[in-house]
Amino acid sequence: MLILGIETSCDETSVSVVEDGTVVRSNIISSQVEFHRPYGGVVPEVASRKHLELINPVIQEALDLAGVGFADIDAVAVTVGPGLIGALLVGLAAAKAIAYVLNVPLVGVNHLEAHIKGNFLQNPLLRPPLVALLVSGGHTILAYMDEDGGIKTLGETLDDAAGEAFDKIARFLGLGYPGGPAIDKLAAEGDASKVVLPRAMIDRPDYDFSLSGLKTAVLNYVTRLEEAGEAVPLADLAAGFQAAVVDVQVAKTLRAAKEYKVKDIVLAGGVAANAGLRAALKTAADEAGLTLSFPTLELCTDNAAMIASLGYDYLAAGKTIDMTANANANLPLAQ
Ligand code: KG4
Ligand code: ZN
Repeated sequence: MLILGIETSCDETSVSVVEDGTVVRSNIISSQVEFHRPYGGVVPEVASRKHLELINPVIQEALDLAGVGFADIDAVAVTVGPGLIGALLVGLAAAKAIAYVLNVPLVGVNHLEAHIKGNFLQNPLLRPPLVALLVSGGHTILAYMDEDGGIKTLGETLDDAAGEAFDKIARFLGLGYPGGPAIDKLAAEGDASKVVLPRAMIDRPDYDFSLSGLKTAVLNYVTRLEEAGEAVPLADLAAGFQAAVVDVQVAKTLRAAKEYKVKDIVLAGGVAANAGLRAALKTAADEAGLTLSFPTLELCTDNAAMIASLGYDYLAAGKTIDMTANANANLPLAQ
């Protein structure tokens, strides 16, 4: 069974053809990052317009690369939320049109659940129960997946998302956009012990996160140095900031794994590309006798392969949508 997946929730126009939920025949990702760079962040209106321009050529490219035509498609899966509403609607409209014309089922996929699904696509031997840390530009969520695949949100950020914090700090430090990869690279050259920043909520018994205080701590640190006429040690600051984010995420993820007695931890979302996070979580997981999985870079950031793959599961469970379905900008991962 061939599923055409469409993802337009943020600033990547992505279309994929996935066979039987597991074999990625094509996964085209057209990033709009160049168009948003001058603004230092994603501009929703620009994103919607770019999706409109790109969606048809990207669909064609995905079909061509998979070596199939529209007539070979058995179902269409599309992200219905969460995300930027205008951006989501472009993908949903395209998916509806294709499903209608081909007279095939239409499946509406949860973007956050799909990020977790990216791990199963990468590692077919992976089985729940597991604990998932989902860290992206819009979300920081710790979730538990039971043996039947049911998802429970354990905690989330009370203010900024992890990627958002990386992007804001990078912009403040003049490191460009997107900030995550820039800070990650710089942090590798720095010494985190030289700039120790607060680990917000690390000792709290819940699984929530807070990142806005850390942002303020960085601003205060830089202002203090500037007022004293001292140079800002950028690499050490990047390393100190990254370590503060990573330490809390690792501590809470490990605690959740212990409480829920799972053997597997999965990492998902754009920030899962962070080398510091991967390394620290891997070390902690090894020490605790747990297995850590994370997808390749292509499956970490927004992509339509994860949408088509999860769409296959939804379809098998009879979960389809009709032509009246709407997108939901605030769709939660799970209650
Ligand atoms: O999952 P994603 O592609 O889009 C959303 O759904 O948000 O995540 C994008 C976010 C951006 O904030 C970006 O700065 C961050 O992921 N990111 C990183 C790294 N690569 C991307 N953050 C930290 N370290 C990285 N290496
Ligand atoms: Zn995402």
